[in-house]
Amino acid sequence: MAKKMSQVIISYILPILLLLLLLAVETNAHNVTLLLENHPSFSSFNHYLTQTHLAEEINQRTTITVCAVDNAAMSDLTSKGYTVSTIKNILSLHVLLDYFGAKKLHQLTDGGSVLTSTLFQATGAASRTTGFVNITDLRGGKVGFGLDGGDISSSFVKSIEEIPYTLSVIQISSILHSDTASAPTPAPAEILSAHG
Ligand SMILES: *[C@@H]1O[C@H](CO)[C@@H](O)[C@H](O)[C@H]1NC(C)=O
Ligand SMILES: *[C@@H]1O[C@H](CO)[C@@H](O)[C@H](O)[C@H]1NC(C)=O
Repeated sequence: MAKKMSQVIISYILPILLLLLLLAVETNAHNVTLLLENHPSFSSFNHYLTQTHLAEEINQRTTITVCAVDNAAMSDLTSKGYTVSTIKNILSLHVLLDYFGAKKLHQLTDGGSVLTSTLFQATGAASRTTGFVNITDLRGGKVGFGLDGGDISSSFVKSIEEIPYTLSVIQISSILHSDTASAPTPAPAEILSAHG
């Protein structure tokens, strides 16, 4: 009887417990919304990550870097009357498909640079040849950020949250602009009202 019971446990209950444990670990892995809630100066960025559903995509991925901007820099994007899908395109350029913590950023050698792909390329209908982000070591220990082929117009400010090699959330000084990402999208009904 005792033997039967232990067999039941091993063959049925144990696998279920392991599966539940695995699911719990997976879903608690990271929640970018929750992480950013600890930082009120990024509430606008966080709001739009949720509204564009990019937060869900970020939470499903690993080895990823989110380049956030503070509320003041965010108004540069939200004051333009863009549609939600345009905002999504632009913000998806701020999600890098590689892990860049403060340490790795400062390891760029003098004048060195790396090109990294973004969520903008990984998702969406069009085949994307644009949307790479160029991270460049600038003089004086500054680390610049720009879109490939464009100006290095933004720079690393600080690390916000790091979950080593899963998710890094960093602050950059300004939004990365791209004509491709902000091209008009056929969704007039989605236009954000000024108070929206
Ligand atoms: C992440 O955190 C937010 C804010 O607390 C919550 O609303 C959301 O349900 C969480 N998402 C997941 C997948 O747990
Ligand atoms: C990044 O941009 C800088 C400045 O425009 C340029 O010199 C460098 O070659 C670029 N790096 C890559 C890997 O494209």
